[in-house]
Amino acid sequence: MLFDPRPKEKRSELYDRVEEIEKIMEYSRKYPFTILLGIRRVGKSSVLKVAMNEMQAAIYIDARRMHFESGGWITYESFVRSIEREVNALDSKVKRALRDVLGKVEGVSFAGVNIKFRKDVKVSDVFESLNEFDHTVIAVDEAQYFRFYGRQGGKEFLSLIAYAYDNLKNISFIFAGSEIGLLHDFLGVDNYSSPLYGRVYGEVTITPFKREVARNFLEAGFREANIEVNDKDVEKALDYLDGIPGWLVEFGYNYIITRDFEATISKVMQKAQEFIAGELRELQKRSNRYSLILKAIAMGFDRWENIKEFVEHNDRAVPNSRLSALLKTLEKMSWIRKDGERYRLIDPVVEKVIKERI
Ligand SMILES: Nc1ncnc2c1ncn2[C@@H]1O[C@H](COP(=O)(O)OP(=O)(O)OP(=O)(O)O)[C@@H](O)[C@H]1O
Ligand SMILES: [Mg+2]
Repeated sequence: MLFDPRPKEKRSELYDRVEEIEKIMEYSRKYPFTILLGIRRVGKSSVLKVAMNEMQAAIYIDARRMHFESGGWITYESFVRSIEREVNALDSKVKRALRDVLGKVEGVSFAGVNIKFRKDVKVSDVFESLNEFDHTVIAVDEAQYFRFYGRQGGKEFLSLIAYAYDNLKNISFIFAGSEIGLLHDFLGVDNYSSPLYGRVYGEVTITPFKREVARNFLEAGFREANIEVNDKDVEKALDYLDGIPGWLVEFGYNYIITRDFEATISKVMQKAQEFIAGELRELQKRSNRYSLILKAIAMGFDRWENIKEFVEHNDRAVPNSRLSALLKTLEKMSWIRKDGERYRLIDPVVEKVIKERI
């Protein structure tokens, strides 16, 4: 169902994105690694999962999930468990074929149809055996969370990738992330001290739907659900939500239940508020000024001096260099972008929620 609020896994559930899926599949054959970028709720995980579903041997791991499950850190064991879970979720034919190569790895055993990894199994050995097997794609969703892995800000992880890049021609990686600048910084392709410095890679960006596509998407979703909806409500929804599929799905899903524009929008805003509150809690752990800065921008205090004034009026003095650093980080996390002299919130729904409800 197009308006199903979970990430999609099959092409038939996904609207459009044909080119992006093709590109991901092409690049993962062509490049040792591919970076998949896009703002929150734009559909990265869905596009990635659909593409993976169409490849023979593809392992999807979610770094954000690992980070939450192990309490704000990614441990070696949670990394191993994620790979184990995904290997076991592979098609049974692929899994049977994998047994032969994985059986040679120390720390790998079999229990019935399931493959078990001892917690100290070497991930590099597992990768080597996958390399012998067939072309294998390993996708890491929200990969920037791997900066919370190991003792050196994820460097051990990057070294593992660099090792695979140099030696394991049959393995390719996809790194997806919504915090675009952070993901680039973490991978460090332009940073001399990063293990991945200077490597060649592919890049795919998922952008919000253009208005026309967003309109067609809503209409297709309502048609699929056999719901008549008047054009005015669709246009109003597009004015309000822009082309971010996550919010459009939330709109469609709730409209089918309420059949009322105002009630639906209020539901979407509530959902967005919960989502944003969760993200803001994470941000606040690092500095309580982030919310104030976002609030300032949402309310139209969007030039550097106005933001500073707003923050200082509501909190305490903030040194210029500190404010610049905080703004830069918000840009890297894809909350805001700079438009000439003005800062803007990237997602209009986030802007409205922060302005009205936070
Ligand atoms: N092309 C599409 N067709 C139908 N539904 C979509 C499409 N793209 C995204 N969605 C829906 O939008 C929501 C967000 O998608 P998804 O979780 O894939 O995005 P994301 O970019 O990974 O988000 P996040 O930043 O929260 O991880 C989901 O409900 C998903 O089903
Ligand atoms: Mg996602």
